[in-house]
Amino acid sequence: MLTDTAEKARGLANLPPVQSDSLLQLIALCNADQRPDKIDVGVGVWRDGAGNTPILRTIKAAEQRLVESQVTKSYLGSAGDKRFTELLRPILLGEHADDDRIAGLQTPGGCGALRLGFELIAAANPGSHVHFGAPTWPNHPPIIQSVGLECVEYPYYERGQGVIRFEDMIASLREAAPGDVALLHGCCHNPTGADLSDNQWREVANVVAERGLIPFIDIAYQGFGRGLDEDAFGVRLMLETCDEVVIAQSCDKNFSVYRDRVGSLWIKTGSAETTAKALAHVFQIARQMWSMPPDHGAAAVHIILDDPQLKNDWLQEVALMRDRINALRQRIASADPRLAFIGRQFGMFSMLPLSKEQVVRLRETHAIYMADSGRFNIVGLSDAQVDRFIAAVVEALGA
Ligand code: LMR
Repeated sequence: MLTDTAEKARGLANLPPVQSDSLLQLIALCNADQRPDKIDVGVGVWRDGAGNTPILRTIKAAEQRLVESQVTKSYLGSAGDKRFTELLRPILLGEHADDDRIAGLQTPGGCGALRLGFELIAAANPGSHVHFGAPTWPNHPPIIQSVGLECVEYPYYERGQGVIRFEDMIASLREAAPGDVALLHGCCHNPTGADLSDNQWREVANVVAERGLIPFIDIAYQGFGRGLDEDAFGVRLMLETCDEVVIAQSCDKNFSVYRDRVGSLWIKTGSAETTAKALAHVFQIARQMWSMPPDHGAAAVHIILDDPQLKNDWLQEVALMRDRINALRQRIASADPRLAFIGRQFGMFSMLPLSKEQVVRLRETHAIYMADSGRFNIVGLSDAQVDRFIAAVVEALGA
C-alpha cells in the first residue's frame, strides 16, 4: 500500500505540457525552414535593405569604449545604471523630465519593466482589473495574469477595415472601476500599427482621469513612428493629466540591442514622497526576480546618450531606421487599394485581413512567415523580397 507521502510526491516529470508562445513557435518554424527564399516577417526586428539586423555604429563605438575603459563589473544595485535612466528622462518624459514625482529604474528589457510594473500594481491593489485593447501583444495577458491580476478586453481595432474602434474603446473604458488599470501602447501599436491620433489621446486621457484609472503605457518603439518626441505624445499627455502613471519603456528596438535586454520602468504618483515609497517596493520586487538588471546594453546606451556627438549620430541612426519603415509602408500601401491602410499606420507591424488558413498557406506555399493573426513585420522584408511578398499577399487576398 502506498503511504500518504508516496501518493503526494510529484516530480518535475509530472508537469503538464506547455502551450508554447505563438511567436516563439513561429521563430522556431522559420529557423527550421531550409528554403533559401523564405521571408521572415514574424518577430519584430528591424532589418536593412539586405535583410540584416546590423549592430548600430553608435553601439559599436560605445562597446569599444566600454572594453577600453570599464574597470570593474562589480554590482550596481537594484536600480541598475542610474545615469542610464537619468539620460533617458528627457527623451521619454520631455517637458516632465524635471518632475520629482516621476522616478525610473533600469530593467531587463521592456518585458521586465512590464512584469515589474504589474507586480507593483498587484501589490498596491490586488483586486484591480487591467483593461487592454484587443488585439494586443500576445505576451501582455500572460504577464498580467502571472501577477494574479484580472484582464478585461476593450475593443481596439477593426481588422477588416484597418481602423481603430475608438468609440467602442472609449465606451468600454468608461465602464472601468476607479483604481483599475488601462494598458495603452505609447506608439507603433503592436500588433496593428494603428496609433491613436493626438486628439484621440486627449479623449482617452480625459476618460482615464475622470474614471480614476491608472494609465500603464507600454512604449517599446519610440522613434520608429513619427519621431522621438511625436511618439512620446501619449506618455507625456498622461503625465500631464494623471496623478498616477506607470510606463514600461524599451531601448531594445531603437538602439537595436534586442538580445541585451535594455529597458526601464517609470512611476509617477501624487508626490515625490509617495513615489519614493512606491520605488522602494519596486526595488524589493526586482530583488526577488532578477536582483539587479544586466549591465552591458544599458552601459552602451549610457555612453551614447552622455556624449553629444554619439547622441547626435544615434538620432540619425534612429531616423534612418524610421525612414526605411515608412518607405516600405508606402511601397506596400501603393501596391493595392486593399493594402492602403498600411500607409496610414506606424511602426514595425500591421495586420493583414487574412484568415489563419490563408496565413498557413502563405507559409507552406511561399515560405512567408507571419503570425497567425496576420500580423507582419514590415521591416522584416529585404529590398529584394518586397515585390514577391506583395504579389503573394495580393494573391491570398483574392480577386
Ligand atoms: C515582437 O512582438 O515581435 C517583439 O516584441 C518580440 C517579442 O518578444 O515578442
